[in-house]
Amino acid sequence: MALIGVFDSGVGGLSILDEALRQLPQHNFIYLADSANAPYGEKSTDWIALRSLKLCRYLVAQGCEAIVVACNTATAEAIAQIRLTLPQIPIIGVEPGIKPAAMQTQNGIVGVLATQATLNSDKFNALLATLPGDCQFIKQAGAGLVPLIESGQIDSVATLTLLEQHLTPIRLAGADTLVLGCTHYPFLSPLIRKIIGNEINLIDTGDAVIKQLARQLLLQIPNRNESNQSDDTNLGTLTFITTGDSNKLLKMSKQLLQSPLQLRQVSAQQLPQ
Ligand code: DGL
Repeated sequence: MALIGVFDSGVGGLSILDEALRQLPQHNFIYLADSANAPYGEKSTDWIALRSLKLCRYLVAQGCEAIVVACNTATAEAIAQIRLTLPQIPIIGVEPGIKPAAMQTQNGIVGVLATQATLNSDKFNALLATLPGDCQFIKQAGAGLVPLIESGQIDSVATLTLLEQHLTPIRLAGADTLVLGCTHYPFLSPLIRKIIGNEINLIDTGDAVIKQLARQLLLQIPNRNESNQSDDTNLGTLTFITTGDSNKLLKMSKQLLQSPLQLRQVSAQQLPQ
């Protein structure tokens, strides 16, 4: 089985890890959260690129044979450099699902909720430029949401109030589709539905990202994919590493992950910043 690193600024990448545990249960995972430095979304391009590269190098030094950059912001600002620096392993990124959104929208109005850094990035704007001009994208930065989620407030009044503000332009424009362009935001889906209603189509790309990881593992390390069975006797290990508080990360993982952890060998440790 392969050792796979999954990295995010904090707990957001758990939404991607959940898919990985579901689709590739036999593999071993390290989940690395840079919680001491979250949020990334309001930091400079250079800072995000340098920091992401440093953490990916650390994951390779731990023996990771593939890395999922489970953060839209780090993907937008750093993935090209990470791939150049670490060409020996597959590096899978996460991008806002504006392409599937453009295909699925019925009325041609799509909301995109993402960090300011993602929305400003060249990578995001280059992707946007490839899409048909008849689709209208209402872009909104989710300022302040990540710190609330990091502090465990996924359904607090403060989070609801802030989310209501951010979603107002998207709601008023009549969007029928909303792209969750930050891996933290899928945890807010119940609140989003409370505000905009059940009719809106929420797009997150966790499933597609892990399918891409599975393809890359088969292509690049085919001898490490022996079993795809999700039988309970064949589950890989899961190590949580954080620059923040490891007990807190473990507690939040148990709260946010839908995959059961009790049948796996799970450990948590702290990484000095
Ligand atoms: N979860 C991240 C993303 O997908 C980063 C959010 C942040 O740290 O600002 O963009």
